[in-house]
Amino acid sequence: MQGFLRRFRRRGVAIAAAAVTLPVVALLAQGYGGSPIWWEANTNEKMPLAALFRDSSGDILVYNQTGDMGTNGHPFFSKLGSNGRACISCHQPSAAMSVNLERLNERWQQTRGTDAVFAAVDGSNCPSLPQQEKSSHSLLLEHGLFRIYEAWPAAGVKPEFTIEVMRDPTGCNTDATYGLKSAHPTISVYRRPRIVGNFKFLSAGAFTADSRATTLEQQALDAIRMHEQGSGNIAPEDLRQIVEFEQQVYVAQSRDELGGDLTEVGGPEALGPWNMSRAKADDLHTVADRNLARFLTVQDWPNHHAQGASPRDAFRESVLRGSRVFSARTFHIGDTANLEHVAGHKAVDGTCATCHSERFTGVSNQGAWADIGTSIKGWIGDRPELPLFKITCTTGAGHPYLGRVIYTNDPGRALVTGKCADVGSFVMQQLRGLPARAPYFTAGTAKDLREVVDFYDKRFSAHFSEQEKQDLVNFMSVL
Ligand code: HEC
Ligand code: HEC
Repeated sequence: MQGFLRRFRRRGVAIAAAAVTLPVVALLAQGYGGSPIWWEANTNEKMPLAALFRDSSGDILVYNQTGDMGTNGHPFFSKLGSNGRACISCHQPSAAMSVNLERLNERWQQTRGTDAVFAAVDGSNCPSLPQQEKSSHSLLLEHGLFRIYEAWPAAGVKPEFTIEVMRDPTGCNTDATYGLKSAHPTISVYRRPRIVGNFKFLSAGAFTADSRATTLEQQALDAIRMHEQGSGNIAPEDLRQIVEFEQQVYVAQSRDELGGDLTEVGGPEALGPWNMSRAKADDLHTVADRNLARFLTVQDWPNHHAQGASPRDAFRESVLRGSRVFSARTFHIGDTANLEHVAGHKAVDGTCATCHSERFTGVSNQGAWADIGTSIKGWIGDRPELPLFKITCTTGAGHPYLGRVIYTNDPGRALVTGKCADVGSFVMQQLRGLPARAPYFTAGTAKDLREVVDFYDKRFSAHFSEQEKQDLVNFMSVL
């Protein structure tokens, strides 16, 4: 039975409305159908009301608020360009509407690298490489990164700095056709996909790592051109349908191996996708508003006992402590460019929630970007698999903390604005469905949640205790 359950979970279980709180065993007994573990474009699979998948620490649940939905001809699930991909190709329900390494590697094996997700344009390290070789897709297969290619300088922008390519492991930035010195000067950086879902709470209008899109419509057009190699001449009705779908999908962890059902009636309000779906738009209080009582507090978890009573309760205690560490344990946040846009101050004694302030998604409720150092060698170490750029500020301007010469793997927001002060700044991602979509940060530089916490511990000299670190990891793993 256990083996069967596991196999079934791996395929994904679609759940009917009335049954969403029943244990999976009961659901199987009722014979609910599956949702594909890998979803190909144009397959007309049914997008169920709720699809459940096994992930690294429990189950991820993708909740489609409007109920079971046919996808025949639906633009999110259909090929809109020339390379066989749809939006769903890289925003897979089984990976919290993103992609993860396990699924990508399975897919490579099953299709010998011919799945559309590996398309040369951005599913390989560079389109000029021999595409049948696995090594040409190493950034995707080993780090979950797609190539993001942007014209340099961006249209209409007069940059404050020059870019030199110091190291080019993929060959793309020095390539005669695709590189910075080609007929269409282009810079290639490598980034993780982001969750498509929970968008009711992302009202601030900053999408993708560098916020080159400020609306979901703009973002979809950018994705069709960049990832699907389409003309972008899409019917307004199709664009509307894409955005409508994005706004009705909710993604969150729903069960933890140790912590049990995270969606039980009366459980913490922040957990599980349908709690999110039910939250009203005017209910958008933030942690910064000190609305901590709504964000995973002890009294919110019914029937949990004192620490150590059972493995489940001990785990839940740890999650609750982690929630408090996240929102209340202070450290000095300094040397962080654009912090004033995220947190309202240039430097501040703050917490994780000072930046990750939005109650349901953990993004900044001001939608801004900041430079926490995730593309800067001094903080993430040397990453030989990634390109390295030397940024030299040519006008009087500079980066407030890194000076006028900066070495980075990805200039981030500065690719869009051309401003020195924006080098290394990234829009933060939602902190939902994390166990289904490692690795973390824009360049996948933290392979698990422990590495995320260790990064911050060092970056902001937080001196977290071993207990605090474990509690933070446990807290993040149930979101
Ligand atoms: C080749 C894989 C791929 C395909 C196909 C794809 N995306 Fe994405 N998506 C990404 C990557 C990578 C990012 C992050 C880009 C960045 O940060 O610069 C992203 C980011 C996004 C975001 C931003 C989310 C946020 O919180 O900032 C949205 C929305 C999105 N994609 C929607 C779509 C839509 C709609 C389609 C289909 C038209 C689509 N994607 C097709 C890979 C893909
Ligand atoms: C100064 C603002 C700031 C503070 C403080 C902060 N973060 Fe972040 N966080 C960010 C930014 C910006 C990103 C995006 C970085 C990137 O994409 O490379 C991010 C990304 C993340 C991610 C990656 C999510 C993903 O999908 O890849 C996690 C997890 C995270 N932060 C957890 C934490 C924790 C835990 C703390 C406290 C120990 C914390 N953050 C403190 C700004 C902050």
